[in-house]
Amino acid sequence: MTLYGIGLGPGQADLVTVRGKTVLESVDIVYSPGRLSRTVALNHVPESKIGDLDFPMTRDEEKLRAAWKTAAGEIAPQARDGDAAFVTLGDPNVYSTFGHLRRTLDAFHPDVDVEIVPGVSAMTAFATALDVEIEAGAGLALREAANGHAPTGPDRMILFKVTDAPATHDGLTAAGYDVTYGRRLYMEQGETVITDDPEEIDERDYYTLAYAVKRDLDIEPATARFDEMGETTSVEERV
Ligand SMILES: C[S@@+](CC[C@H](N)C(=O)[O-])C[C@H]1O[C@@H](n2cnc3c(N)ncnc32)[C@H](O)[C@@H]1O
Repeated sequence: MTLYGIGLGPGQADLVTVRGKTVLESVDIVYSPGRLSRTVALNHVPESKIGDLDFPMTRDEEKLRAAWKTAAGEIAPQARDGDAAFVTLGDPNVYSTFGHLRRTLDAFHPDVDVEIVPGVSAMTAFATALDVEIEAGAGLALREAANGHAPTGPDRMILFKVTDAPATHDGLTAAGYDVTYGRRLYMEQGETVITDDPEEIDERDYYTLAYAVKRDLDIEPATARFDEMGETTSVEERV
């Protein structure tokens, strides 16, 4: 049978895809790596369907590997005898815990069939929440910015894991970026904040991302712009 890696979306129960919901309802057992994903899953399955997994709060690689090995050892027999699901927020293939599980299963339980159900990732949800258009032809890079890091280079970046917004902000503005932050976007728990002031979100909250765009970037939409009178303006008229 199968282990389904199901992406639950950013956190609101109705942003789980129809397929994600159908598979959640069909499996025998649902595992979740954290409290938030478990809460979203509980909108779609009864508590009795939730499996027990214990993840230590540690960065120690050896302890983490051991925890994933134990988790894979728990999940593998369930996915052999029946169908099981492992849920993650966003998409299972974007900076996700599901990658650890899949690698561990590949190494120790290669006979387990794995299927992924994609989810609405923060990497797309941010655009609507922050009212950003990634226009046709634009490039966009994904980066991580934990602990105040401020990666630079690409014209436009989405930064995940912004845990020290003021420090990240200093680095990015000094390198010539305008930055907007989004905290707890489309989440049922906690307050949603969208701001370009890092002091407003100086308290650490893991569910924070940033969109950084080079200040002098000449953004050229693929279709016409309209002036206040509704007239079409050409590129030459606008400059
Ligand atoms: C381990 S990554 C998981 C990404 C997830 N798999 C996805 O596709 O969205 C966690 C990071 O994603 C970002 N993130 C995920 N969900 C978010 C949300 N609802 N609002 C803001 N940021 C979010 C945060 O930067 C957080 O630190």
